[in-house]
Amino acid sequence: MTIDWDPRQYLQFSDERSRPFHDLIARIPLQSPRTVVDLGCGPGSMTAALGQRWPTARVTGVDSSPEMIEHASRLASPPLLSFELRDLRQWSSDEPIDVLVSSAALQWVADHTTLFGRFMSCLARGGVFAFQVPGNFNAPSHRLLRELATSPRWERRLAALVREVPVREPAEYVELLSGLGASVDAWETTYLHMLTGSDAVLEWTRGTALRPFIGALDAAEADELLASYAEALGRAYPADDAGRTIYPFRRIFVVARAAGGD
Ligand SMILES: C[S@@+](CC[C@H](N)C(=O)[O-])C[C@H]1O[C@@H](n2cnc3c(N)ncnc32)[C@H](O)[C@@H]1O
Repeated sequence: MTIDWDPRQYLQFSDERSRPFHDLIARIPLQSPRTVVDLGCGPGSMTAALGQRWPTARVTGVDSSPEMIEHASRLASPPLLSFELRDLRQWSSDEPIDVLVSSAALQWVADHTTLFGRFMSCLARGGVFAFQVPGNFNAPSHRLLRELATSPRWERRLAALVREVPVREPAEYVELLSGLGASVDAWETTYLHMLTGSDAVLEWTRGTALRPFIGALDAAEADELLASYAEALGRAYPADDAGRTIYPFRRIFVVARAAGGD
């Protein structure tokens, strides 16, 4: 599935979206990696933060969206920080990688078993593969969208876009990556995002889960779908008297370290 990404819409919640990234990299136990790759780097701000954490490392952000790479490239500072337009499903490296990071991207690709085998084989001795993915596919925000897409009104246009969720439970990732010889640190967190403004959860999903569905419709149809979705979301996530909407968002984190090294 090809999705047009909009860096500006995505960055609307940059504080909420960057927090899990920082929580993830805080658990990477390497002092001075030489090679760092960020798979599904998006608009590049987090990739740049990797360069700040490890100022002597060569950091490369990889993303398959031309819009995201165009945005990210404004932050490039070769040879230490660069960006590549590339599909992570085909990514591999001949050079051993010390840190391979992926934040909020692997939920878009299937077959984590095959991919993770390749990613681990690209690591240097003692290298780290660290990722975080949403674990909220059964939350109302996502369930209501699936229900709409498969309803009689939209089924013919949208049902084919409802994907089987590739994200697994944390314990399954521990088993998978331990089986590949890694020591694994895994956890999950539910963030209670405090959103403001009208249709706040709709605005959030516009930057991510909603994109493939809107992209498949013409403008009038998109408006109709958005109106139905906004109404359902308003019931599931009512704003409080101060205009704040609490949006609980579960995320799964894994830091897998290859054998060897210090
Ligand atoms: C939700 S954004 C996450 C961006 C950033 N990592 C962050 O933490 O904010 C997901 C990104 O994954 C990218 N992506 C999705 N599928 C991809 C693929 N097959 N190959 C490379 N990038 C992909 C999208 O283009 C998008 O920029």
